Amino acid sequence: MGPLRVDRVELPGTGQLMEIARPANDDPLIDEAAADPEQHLPYWAEIWPSGVALAATIARQPGALDGRRVLELGCGLGVTAIGALHAGADLLVTDYAPEALALCALNALDQTGRMPDTRRVNWRDSDTTLSTLQGERFPLVLAADVLYESRDVEPLLALVEQVVEPGGELWLAEPGRPPAARFLEAIRDRGWAGESERWEGPWPDAEDDAKGVVVTVHRLLRRCEAEL
Ligand SMILES: C[S@@+](CC[C@H](N)C(=O)[O-])C[C@H]1O[C@@H](n2cnc3c(N)ncnc32)[C@H](O)[C@@H]1O
Repeated sequence: MGPLRVDRVELPGTGQLMEIARPANDDPLIDEAAADPEQHLPYWAEIWPSGVALAATIARQPGALDGRRVLELGCGLGVTAIGALHAGADLLVTDYAPEALALCALNALDQTGRMPDTRRVNWRDSDTTLSTLQGERFPLVLAADVLYESRDVEPLLALVEQVVEPGGELWLAEPGRPPAARFLEAIRDRGWAGESERWEGPWPDAEDDAKGVVVTVHRLLRRCEAEL
């Protein structure tokens, strides 16, 4: 992975600060990804506004996570995971990049004194993902900026219907990419409903402020089977 650097991250509207270790130079990671037939780009190595907005959402309502078993999909460097652990969650994080799982655990330990459980899953391989999760269902699933490729819409729809327990919630943060819009339309058609909140920054990277990035955090409730 090469040398690391540490970035300071402020959660908007909360005054909370985090320090996040990340690769100092993405170029070798991008060169490695160019040779990957699956085109798994190293998006885990960046600090994304969606992860920051989801951590800020958690900071405003920690009681929703305290003492609860929580799953995060696509944890990246761990910004959202740190928020969840601060809130008292019993957290399992997943990603397909082993480097992301390692840095998420390192950052979480450094910032909270606790480590999440970690499992490597690729949600495009649904059978292996479900067996890795050992059939566990969760009252709350977190996901920040995981819907940027069309090929992920159907696998993620199928996965959340398997891993969010009836009456449980999916908290999805997304910055307006078309696959996220398709996912949201499909999941609402399946009866999921809830509130959405817009976050306008300021973001850790001033370029995101200059581009006017807006993140929406959707808190989607899966109805109980009796209500369907
Ligand atoms: C844009 S990054 C967002 C990271 C983090 N949630 C955040 O907001 O900072 C997307 C994350 O999802 C992971 N990911 C993408 N496709 C995946 C897949 N098919 N299975 C598991 N993880 C995946 C990436 O490795 C990366 O960590």
